[in-house]
Amino acid sequence: MRHSPLRIGVIGYGYWGPNLVRNFHARLDAEVAAVADVDEQKLAQVHLHYPSIQCVSDAISILHDPRIDAVAIATPPSTHFALARKALEIGKHVLVEKPMAMTSIEAQALIGLARARKRILMVGHTFIYTSSVQKIRSLIENGELGDLYYIDSVRFNLGLLQGDASVLWDLAPHDLSIFLYLVDERPTAVQAFGQVHIGAEKKEIATVTIRYESGFHAHIHVSWISPVKIRLTLIGGSRKMIVYDDVEPTEKVRIYDKGVSLKESGESVTAFNPIYRAGDVLIPALDRREALEREISHFLNCIQMGVTPLSDGESGLAVIRILEAAEMSMAQNGAFVPLSR
Ligand SMILES: NC(=O)c1ccc[n+]([C@@H]2O[C@H](COP(=O)([O-])OP(=O)(O)OC[C@H]3O[C@@H](n4cnc5c(N)ncnc54)[C@H](O)[C@@H]3O)[C@@H](O)[C@H]2O)c1
Repeated sequence: MRHSPLRIGVIGYGYWGPNLVRNFHARLDAEVAAVADVDEQKLAQVHLHYPSIQCVSDAISILHDPRIDAVAIATPPSTHFALARKALEIGKHVLVEKPMAMTSIEAQALIGLARARKRILMVGHTFIYTSSVQKIRSLIENGELGDLYYIDSVRFNLGLLQGDASVLWDLAPHDLSIFLYLVDERPTAVQAFGQVHIGAEKKEIATVTIRYESGFHAHIHVSWISPVKIRLTLIGGSRKMIVYDDVEPTEKVRIYDKGVSLKESGESVTAFNPIYRAGDVLIPALDRREALEREISHFLNCIQMGVTPLSDGESGLAVIRILEAAEMSMAQNGAFVPLSR
């Protein structure tokens, strides 16, 4: 069945908003009807590139526009909750950037509202829509890696320092959404440390350790004070291991047939007889389509078909619960903070 194009309002045209506008604009099943930004200079940019798109400085007028079916919110995180709540109350479908809100109570309120109004609520966990992460998930699901041991993620760059969010709330949602998507087991506890060097209170470096009951272990290191850009995730399993380097232009995922086990002598296993296995390295061919294009296509499809998004409100909430526990751990000098079920 062919649907008429969905009319989209984009709120926030700073760094990320233009990517949303570009991707929605390129589609046949969507039309960007309006863009809102409080900054007139940003609106002048919209007008320059897309003269047919209506530009407004007040997001509320987009939310009240009956011609608009859905909104994409790409404003600073502290504004997400109020804008998304208003949008859902008025009856719009919502794609809200990560982190979806600043507390789990706010996130739960948005989930409840979307359910009550029967509207799609999707969170911009862009990385789970990359062909790399999708490929890794299928490898894990098919048992290629064997038993999962760990995920280790490093996400460094010089900036972009945010005014209203620490590096933990800005960058760690990417890694957390990837972990939650890849690993079926739910985490049980979180330990975190953070450092402030440049600003007054927003941490620019953070490390987070996440515990799981099975012994599987996840670790994240995020930083805004790095001379180079690094986006590296290592996933270790009993059979194979993966290095996912998102900065690599083409060969982003490498699957190593490597491992170590202990030599068994009769009944006993001795730690002093490790056997290292070093087989082939496989670099799978991946779909080169932009992740945001796939994300937006999924959002539009979820609206048209009434399907729950992969990155729904619940996944946004799961990320926020871990961020809150990490904040609590930092405040307690790195104590492990249990995650409520
Ligand atoms: N999914 C991704 O990969 C990804 C990448 C980058 C940023 N983001 C997210 O996108 C969001 C925006 O980040 P950014 O880097 O573009 O920030 P930014 O500060 O560059 O842009 C935010 C824009 O929102 C505007 N704005 C602020 N309050 C507004 C309001 N009430 N109404 C209308 N406009 C308003 C600002 O004027 C600014 O132009 C953040 O939540 C960030 O985490 C997501």
